[in-house]
Amino acid sequence: SYPTQVRLIDVGPRDGLQNEKQPVPAAIKIELVQRLQEAGLKEIEVTSFVSPKWVPQMADNAEVMAGIERRADVRYSVLTPNLKGFEAAIATRPDEIVVFGAASEAFSQKNINCSIAESIERFAPVVEAALAAGIAVRGAMSCTVGCPYEGEIAPEQVSYLAGLMKGIGVQRVDVADTIGVGNPLSVRRAIEATLKHYDLEHISGHFHDTYGQALSNTLAAVSVGVWNFQSSVSGLGGCPYAKGATGNVATEDVVFMLHGMGIETGIDLDKLIDAGQFISDSLGRPNGSRVARAVLAK
Ligand code: HMG
Ligand code: MG
Repeated sequence: SYPTQVRLIDVGPRDGLQNEKQPVPAAIKIELVQRLQEAGLKEIEVTSFVSPKWVPQMADNAEVMAGIERRADVRYSVLTPNLKGFEAAIATRPDEIVVFGAASEAFSQKNINCSIAESIERFAPVVEAALAAGIAVRGAMSCTVGCPYEGEIAPEQVSYLAGLMKGIGVQRVDVADTIGVGNPLSVRRAIEATLKHYDLEHISGHFHDTYGQALSNTLAAVSVGVWNFQSSVSGLGGCPYAKGATGNVATEDVVFMLHGMGIETGIDLDKLIDAGQFISDSLGRPNGSRVARAVLAK
């Protein structure tokens, strides 16, 4: 049976924009966050506190965090790969920080310049400091089904990483298909591997749509009871260290499917479509949500 309710974390402002080559003004990012919360999103991944040399688009992290109109019932999260990032982030009062590791050694090296074991050593003091400050901690697990450098990833590698995350106190984890090569079966196996260390309540799905499988993979995860997902409004995005990878599943498409199934999200689809069209127009891009395109064509 399906969950009756699903919670969506829109990662568009972060995952969606981090790889954008043209400069996107902080004011546009701030307005995107505003429109997402007006559409009913209760969790928004706003930005990341990473090296501006590695990801120039996120260099305005503090400005964006300072500019958003905070709502008490919305959780604002930011990525923090190390203590330096955490110290910069904490000044901006995030509700949740995200450490990000990978189930693939090669991807860990390319993305955060260290091995999986080293990454956990770097995350540990970040997690400890965040929890001591009353800030929630999520752990993103990249490449849980496939890696651009290593190919297929075994569920054992996912379980290994999930166990390490649990060991340092990470409260919940994202099972990410970074390059969108997963299918309903491989994604289910990655979730089952994660369930060895986290319960359903603390697992979210994060599926990129590179191969057009992300909505199917979302349904596969919903079918095993997962009820937290990350998605990007209008399907924005891609990871700079996963060449050719496209954006996350479009939030609009997930909302349309779930509402059609009678599963609540608390999101107003029309307002969400407006938010997606706003950012698509700002970037001069066609809207990446099939649902938005269909609705707007009517
Ligand atoms: P490093 O070069 O190994 O770090 O980078 P370092 O400690 O040796 O420091 C080197 C320089 O970076 C120093 O500056 C530091 O101060 C600076 P310099 O002395 O040369 O001028 N530095 C920083 N500056 C700002 N903020 C920081 C920071 N840390 C060091 N936090 C590091 C290691 C992790 C920082 C680097 O590799 C990096 O920034 N990588 C970017 C990774 C990234 O943002 N990837 C995209 C997000 S993950 C993703 O998209 C996947 C996800 O969506 C899930 C999925 O789909 O799979 C989450
Ligand atoms: Mg991602």
